[in-house]
Amino acid sequence: MAASYESRIRCLEGLNLQIGFWHDPEGVLNSEKIKSVIAIDGPAASGKSTIGRMLANHLVFLFLDTGCMYRAVTLAVLQRGIDIDDEAAVVDLTESVELDILPPWGKKDGRLYTVLLDGQDVTWDIRTSEVDSNVSQVSAYKGVRQNLVDRQRNLAKRGSVVVVGRDIGTVVLPEAPLKLYIIASTEERAYRRWIEQRNREKSLTYDQILADMIRRDRIDGNREHSPMRPAKDAVIIDTTGLSPEQILDQILTLDYFHALGESR
Ligand code: DC
Repeated sequence: MAASYESRIRCLEGLNLQIGFWHDPEGVLNSEKIKSVIAIDGPAASGKSTIGRMLANHLVFLFLDTGCMYRAVTLAVLQRGIDIDDEAAVVDLTESVELDILPPWGKKDGRLYTVLLDGQDVTWDIRTSEVDSNVSQVSAYKGVRQNLVDRQRNLAKRGSVVVVGRDIGTVVLPEAPLKLYIIASTEERAYRRWIEQRNREKSLTYDQILADMIRRDRIDGNREHSPMRPAKDAVIIDTTGLSPEQILDQILTLDYFHALGESR
């Protein structure tokens, strides 16, 4: 399914997302555009972002990792010294911050995209263990979710997009024709996160990461608003012991991709 030069350029232009400025609470997807929306959910470090990014590259679709939006808001809360238990203040802050997600544009430090928070590059600052430990609480607040879900729907209504998160198939885009739910064993997920983080935070141990992951899974899966769970029609993909390439190959055999190829 080779993408033309023109469509690649269109995609890159489309990736320049100034999401902080867009607020359309309706966020309606028309029936044509919805055909090219892929929803991917799953727990932390299940491989969903890596797979989502590879799939988006393969299809020349936009890639939207919604977790980075919850992380950026959490970072803003921590940086501004806002009490994380003060739900109203956290929601106010969410509504006021400007969030941009841009392509990596030549940055060769392993980033999948660049995240700007009020104009500052926070791509790696949102990946610290401090943000990890607080993001589940921030993302459990209803007002935070409402604001970020509006922004996410707004982006997705352009179509040709792979959207990754926890509630994409169940709440954000339940109309998506392909919903994937990516899982892996908790131990493998903790190991992947430890490998990813050990250069940036040398003192962090595998056991600490494992304990935090179990705690976050519990909060994300049991929260009142939009708990993490597969949509009824989601395809469950277990990535334990598989390489990203093997997983992508497995996903591309799904019927959806035959239909998509014919309609492009
Ligand atoms: O995928 P991640 O680890 O970067 O996500 C960070 C947190 O954001 C995660 O603990 C739960 C929350 N999140 C969410 O509640 N809903 C989403 N659609 C995406 C992430």
